[in-house]
Amino acid sequence: EHLAGHLPTHMKGLDEALCGGIPFGVLTELVGPAGIGKTQFCLKLSLLASLPASYGGLDGHVIYIDVESKFSSRRLIEIGVKSFPEIFHRKGMAQEMAGRIHVLRPASLSEFTESLQQIKVSLLQNQVKLLVIDSMAALVTGEFEHGAPRQNTLGWHISFIKSLAEFSRIPVVVTNQVRSQSRDETCHYYFQVQSWNEAIKDRTRHDSHLVAALGINWAHAVTIRLVLEAKSGQRFIKVAKSPISPPLAFPFNITSSGILL
Ligand code: GTP
Repeated sequence: EHLAGHLPTHMKGLDEALCGGIPFGVLTELVGPAGIGKTQFCLKLSLLASLPASYGGLDGHVIYIDVESKFSSRRLIEIGVKSFPEIFHRKGMAQEMAGRIHVLRPASLSEFTESLQQIKVSLLQNQVKLLVIDSMAALVTGEFEHGAPRQNTLGWHISFIKSLAEFSRIPVVVTNQVRSQSRDETCHYYFQVQSWNEAIKDRTRHDSHLVAALGINWAHAVTIRLVLEAKSGQRFIKVAKSPISPPLAFPFNITSSGILL
Protein backbone atom coordinates (compact mmCIF):
# COMPACT_ATOMS: atom_id res chain seq x y z
CA GLU A 1 0.00 0.00 0.00
CA HIS A 2 1.35 3.38 -1.06
CA LEU A 3 0.86 5.95 1.68
CA ALA A 4 3.38 8.59 0.63
CA GLY A 5 2.49 11.84 -1.06
CA HIS A 6 3.25 15.54 -0.86
CA LEU A 7 1.72 18.89 -1.65
CA PRO A 8 4.58 20.80 -3.34
CA THR A 9 4.92 24.35 -1.98
CA HIS A 10 6.53 25.48 -5.28
CA MET A 11 9.36 26.87 -3.12
CA LYS A 12 12.21 24.85 -4.55
CA GLY A 13 14.66 24.60 -1.66
CA LEU A 14 11.91 23.87 0.83
CA ASP A 15 10.34 21.18 -1.39
CA GLU A 16 13.74 19.53 -1.78
CA ALA A 17 14.37 19.62 1.97
CA LEU A 18 10.95 18.04 2.60
CA CYS A 19 11.40 15.43 -0.18
CA GLY A 20 8.55 16.85 -2.25
CA GLY A 21 6.61 19.28 -0.06
CA ILE A 22 4.04 19.18 2.74
CA PRO A 23 3.48 15.47 3.50
CA PHE A 24 0.09 13.74 3.42
CA GLY A 25 -1.31 12.08 6.50
CA VAL A 26 0.48 14.09 9.19
CA LEU A 27 0.34 17.51 10.86
CA THR A 28 2.57 20.32 9.61
CA GLU A 29 2.85 23.36 11.85
CA LEU A 30 3.75 26.88 10.74
CA VAL A 31 5.02 28.77 13.75
CA GLY A 32 5.99 32.42 13.94
CA PRO A 33 5.21 35.86 15.30
CA ALA A 34 2.24 38.00 14.18
CA GLY A 35 2.58 39.37 10.65
CA ILE A 36 5.46 37.11 9.54
CA GLY A 37 3.46 35.43 6.74
CA LYS A 38 1.76 32.28 8.10
CA THR A 39 -1.59 33.18 6.56
CA GLN A 40 0.09 34.09 3.26
CA PHE A 41 1.72 30.64 3.27
CA CYS A 42 -1.67 28.99 3.92
CA LEU A 43 -3.30 30.94 1.06
CA LYS A 44 -0.57 29.76 -1.32
CA LEU A 45 -0.98 26.14 -0.20
CA SER A 46 -4.77 26.38 -0.62
CA LEU A 47 -4.32 27.65 -4.14
CA LEU A 48 -1.85 24.87 -4.96
CA ALA A 49 -4.13 22.16 -3.57
CA SER A 50 -7.02 23.38 -5.73
CA LEU A 51 -5.03 23.79 -8.97
CA PRO A 52 -5.29 21.22 -11.79
CA ALA A 53 -2.74 18.41 -11.59
CA SER A 54 -1.21 19.57 -14.91
CA TYR A 55 -0.04 22.69 -13.04
CA GLY A 56 1.40 20.72 -10.14
CA GLY A 57 -1.73 21.01 -8.01
CA LEU A 58 -3.85 18.36 -6.28
CA ASP A 59 -7.03 19.23 -8.22
CA GLY A 60 -8.99 19.13 -4.98
CA HIS A 61 -11.07 21.03 -2.49
CA VAL A 62 -9.73 22.73 0.64
CA ILE A 63 -11.27 23.15 4.07
CA TYR A 64 -9.90 26.35 5.61
CA ILE A 65 -10.66 27.05 9.26
CA ASP A 66 -10.27 30.80 9.51
CA VAL A 67 -10.33 31.59 13.21
CA GLU A 68 -9.34 35.26 13.03
CA SER A 69 -11.06 36.23 9.76
CA LYS A 70 -7.73 36.58 7.95
CA PHE A 71 -8.66 34.57 4.88
CA SER A 72 -9.10 36.79 1.82
CA SER A 73 -10.45 35.40 -1.45
CA ARG A 74 -9.43 38.68 -3.13
CA ARG A 75 -5.81 38.03 -2.09
CA LEU A 76 -6.06 34.35 -3.07
CA ILE A 77 -7.18 35.33 -6.58
CA GLU A 78 -4.43 37.97 -6.79
CA ILE A 79 -1.81 35.33 -5.97
CA GLY A 80 -3.43 32.99 -8.51
CA VAL A 81 -3.53 35.58 -11.30
CA LYS A 82 0.12 36.56 -10.73
CA SER A 83 1.48 33.02 -10.32
CA PHE A 84 -0.66 31.11 -12.82
CA PRO A 85 -1.93 33.69 -15.33
CA GLU A 86 -2.73 31.11 -18.00
CA ILE A 87 -5.27 29.40 -15.71
CA PHE A 88 -6.66 32.41 -13.92
CA HIS A 89 -7.28 34.45 -17.05
CA ARG A 90 -9.58 31.75 -18.40
CA LYS A 91 -13.21 32.76 -18.08
CA GLY A 92 -14.79 31.65 -14.80
CA MET A 93 -11.60 29.97 -13.57
CA ALA A 94 -10.85 32.38 -10.72
CA GLN A 95 -14.37 31.81 -9.36
CA GLU A 96 -14.05 28.06 -9.79
CA MET A 97 -10.70 27.92 -7.96
CA ALA A 98 -11.97 30.18 -5.15
CA GLY A 99 -15.14 28.10 -4.92
CA ARG A 100 -13.08 25.01 -4.12
CA ILE A 101 -11.89 26.58 -0.88
CA HIS A 102 -14.48 26.17 1.84
CA VAL A 103 -13.90 28.68 4.61
CA LEU A 104 -15.27 27.97 8.08
CA ARG A 105 -15.26 30.60 10.83
CA PRO A 106 -15.99 28.96 14.18
CA ALA A 107 -16.77 31.60 16.81
CA SER A 108 -15.77 29.42 19.74
CA LEU A 109 -13.98 26.22 20.59
CA SER A 110 -17.32 24.39 20.86
CA GLU A 111 -18.30 25.54 17.35
CA PHE A 112 -14.91 24.34 16.17
CA THR A 113 -15.54 20.96 17.84
CA GLU A 114 -18.85 20.67 15.99
CA SER A 115 -17.24 21.62 12.68
CA LEU A 116 -14.60 18.90 13.18
CA GLN A 117 -17.36 16.29 13.05
CA GLN A 118 -18.69 17.79 9.78
CA ILE A 119 -15.16 17.93 8.41
CA LYS A 120 -14.72 14.23 9.10
CA VAL A 121 -17.80 13.53 6.96
CA SER A 122 -16.48 15.77 4.13
CA LEU A 123 -13.10 14.09 4.23
CA LEU A 124 -14.74 10.69 3.76
CA GLN A 125 -16.02 11.92 0.38
CA ASN A 126 -12.42 12.19 -0.83
CA GLN A 127 -12.60 15.53 -2.63
CA VAL A 128 -10.80 17.49 0.06
CA LYS A 129 -7.04 17.52 -0.47
CA LEU A 130 -5.96 19.99 2.23
CA LEU A 131 -7.13 21.01 5.69
CA VAL A 132 -5.86 24.34 7.08
CA ILE A 133 -6.37 25.56 10.64
CA ASP A 134 -5.32 29.23 10.98
CA SER A 135 -4.72 29.44 13.90
CA MET A 136 -4.96 26.73 16.55
CA ALA A 137 -3.59 28.98 19.30
CA ALA A 138 -6.23 31.62 18.58
CA LEU A 139 -8.95 28.97 18.98
CA VAL A 140 -7.94 28.05 22.49
CA THR A 141 -6.69 31.41 23.74
CA GLY A 142 -9.09 32.95 26.19
CA GLU A 143 -11.30 29.84 26.30
CA PHE A 144 -9.76 28.43 29.43
CA GLU A 145 -7.57 29.29 32.32
CA HIS A 146 -4.33 27.35 32.33
CA GLY A 147 -4.71 24.02 34.08
CA ALA A 148 -6.27 20.63 33.83
CA PRO A 149 -9.53 21.38 31.93
CA ARG A 150 -7.60 23.19 29.21
CA GLN A 151 -5.08 20.40 28.83
CA ASN A 152 -7.77 17.72 28.69
CA THR A 153 -9.84 19.48 26.05
CA LEU A 154 -6.78 20.38 24.06
CA GLY A 155 -5.59 16.78 24.24
CA TRP A 156 -8.87 15.60 22.73
CA HIS A 157 -8.63 18.15 19.87
CA ILE A 158 -5.03 17.29 19.17
CA SER A 159 -5.79 13.56 18.90
CA PHE A 160 -8.85 14.19 16.74
CA ILE A 161 -7.00 16.43 14.27
CA LYS A 162 -4.15 13.95 14.08
CA SER A 163 -6.56 11.12 13.38
CA LEU A 164 -8.24 13.20 10.62
CA ALA A 165 -4.85 13.54 8.91
CA GLU A 166 -4.09 9.83 9.29
CA PHE A 167 -7.35 8.39 8.02
CA SER A 168 -7.86 10.85 5.15
CA ARG A 169 -4.14 10.89 4.20
CA ILE A 170 -4.26 14.56 3.28
CA PRO A 171 -1.85 17.27 4.43
CA VAL A 172 -3.08 19.11 7.52
CA VAL A 173 -1.46 22.51 8.05
CA VAL A 174 -1.89 24.35 11.33
CA THR A 175 -0.54 27.80 12.19
CA ASN A 176 0.50 28.99 15.61
CA GLN A 177 1.69 32.23 17.03
CA VAL A 178 4.60 32.14 19.38
CA ARG A 179 5.57 33.95 22.49
CA SER A 180 9.17 34.73 23.34
CA GLN A 181 10.57 33.07 26.40
CA SER A 182 13.70 33.46 28.41
CA ARG A 183 16.60 31.13 27.63
CA ASP A 184 16.02 29.13 30.81
CA GLU A 185 12.34 28.56 30.20
CA THR A 186 13.07 27.54 26.62
CA CYS A 187 15.73 25.07 27.73
CA HIS A 188 13.32 23.63 30.27
CA TYR A 189 10.67 23.20 27.57
CA TYR A 190 13.02 21.41 25.20
CA PHE A 191 14.40 19.32 28.02
CA GLN A 192 10.94 17.90 28.56
CA VAL A 193 10.27 17.39 24.88
CA GLN A 194 13.60 16.00 23.76
CA SER A 195 16.94 15.03 25.15
CA TRP A 196 19.29 17.63 26.52
CA ASN A 197 21.56 17.43 23.47
CA GLU A 198 18.59 17.98 21.20
CA ALA A 199 17.66 20.93 23.39
CA ILE A 200 21.03 22.54 22.88
CA LYS A 201 20.97 21.80 19.16
CA ASP A 202 17.46 23.16 18.77
CA ARG A 203 18.27 26.22 20.80
CA THR A 204 21.12 27.12 18.53
CA ARG A 205 18.93 26.29 15.54
CA HIS A 206 16.44 29.03 16.34
CA ASP A 207 18.15 31.43 18.65
CA SER A 208 15.11 33.64 18.99
CA HIS A 209 13.84 31.13 21.59
CA LEU A 210 10.37 30.86 20.23
CA VAL A 211 8.06 28.29 21.72
CA ALA A 212 4.62 27.29 20.47
CA ALA A 213 1.78 28.32 22.76
CA LEU A 214 0.07 24.93 22.94
CA GLY A 215 2.44 22.94 25.09
CA ILE A 216 4.14 19.62 24.95
CA ASN A 217 1.28 17.38 23.74
CA TRP A 218 0.98 19.58 20.72
CA ALA A 219 4.74 19.68 20.16
CA HIS A 220 4.73 15.85 19.99
CA ALA A 221 1.69 15.60 17.70
CA VAL A 222 3.32 17.66 14.95
CA THR A 223 5.48 15.81 12.40
CA ILE A 224 6.88 18.83 10.51
CA ARG A 225 7.45 22.19 12.17
CA LEU A 226 8.40 25.16 10.01
CA VAL A 227 9.44 28.24 11.96
CA LEU A 228 8.96 31.59 10.20
CA GLU A 229 11.02 34.45 11.58
CA ALA A 230 12.68 37.72 10.67
CA LYS A 231 16.28 38.66 11.23
CA SER A 232 17.83 41.98 10.18
CA GLY A 233 14.89 42.74 7.94
CA GLN A 234 14.98 39.38 6.11
CA ARG A 235 12.31 36.72 6.62
CA PHE A 236 13.36 33.05 6.94
CA ILE A 237 11.61 29.68 6.94
CA LYS A 238 13.43 27.14 9.08
CA VAL A 239 12.79 23.42 9.07
CA ALA A 240 12.75 23.12 12.87
CA LYS A 241 11.35 19.59 13.09
CA SER A 242 11.33 16.93 10.39
CA PRO A 243 11.94 13.17 10.25
CA ILE A 244 13.96 13.62 7.03
CA SER A 245 15.37 17.12 6.64
CA PRO A 246 18.42 18.62 8.29
CA PRO A 247 17.78 21.96 10.05
CA LEU A 248 17.91 24.15 6.94
CA ALA A 249 16.77 27.77 6.70
CA PHE A 250 15.52 29.56 3.58
CA PRO A 251 15.14 33.31 3.10
CA PHE A 252 11.71 34.26 1.73
CA ASN A 253 9.74 37.31 0.61
CA ILE A 254 6.07 38.16 0.33
CA THR A 255 5.21 39.85 -2.96
CA SER A 256 2.02 40.45 -4.91
CA SER A 257 2.47 36.84 -6.18
CA GLY A 258 2.42 35.56 -2.60
CA ILE A 259 5.13 33.90 -0.54
CA LEU A 260 8.31 33.15 -2.53
CA LEU A 261 11.79 31.82 -1.70
P1 GTP B 1 -0.79 36.58 12.40
O1 GTP B 1 -2.00 35.90 11.84
O2 GTP B 1 -1.08 37.96 12.92
O3 GTP B 1 -0.05 35.72 13.37
O4 GTP B 1 0.23 36.87 11.17
P2 GTP B 1 0.66 35.95 9.97
O5 GTP B 1 1.95 35.29 10.26
O6 GTP B 1 -0.47 35.08 9.53
O7 GTP B 1 0.96 37.04 8.86
P3 GTP B 1 0.30 37.18 7.43
O8 GTP B 1 0.39 35.92 6.67
O9 GTP B 1 -1.02 37.84 7.58
O10 GTP B 1 1.36 38.13 6.75
C1 GTP B 1 1.31 39.50 6.86
C2 GTP B 1 2.36 40.03 5.91
O11 GTP B 1 2.09 39.55 4.59
C3 GTP B 1 2.33 41.51 5.83
O12 GTP B 1 3.32 42.05 6.68
C4 GTP B 1 2.69 41.79 4.40
O13 GTP B 1 4.10 41.85 4.30
C5 GTP B 1 2.28 40.57 3.65
N1 GTP B 1 1.01 40.75 2.90
C6 GTP B 1 -0.22 40.54 3.37
N2 GTP B 1 -1.13 40.81 2.42
C7 GTP B 1 -0.45 41.21 1.34
C8 GTP B 1 -0.84 41.63 0.03
O14 GTP B 1 -2.02 41.68 -0.32
N3 GTP B 1 0.18 41.95 -0.82
C9 GTP B 1 1.48 41.86 -0.48
N4 GTP B 1 2.43 42.19 -1.37
N5 GTP B 1 1.87 41.47 0.75
C10 GTP B 1 0.93 41.14 1.64
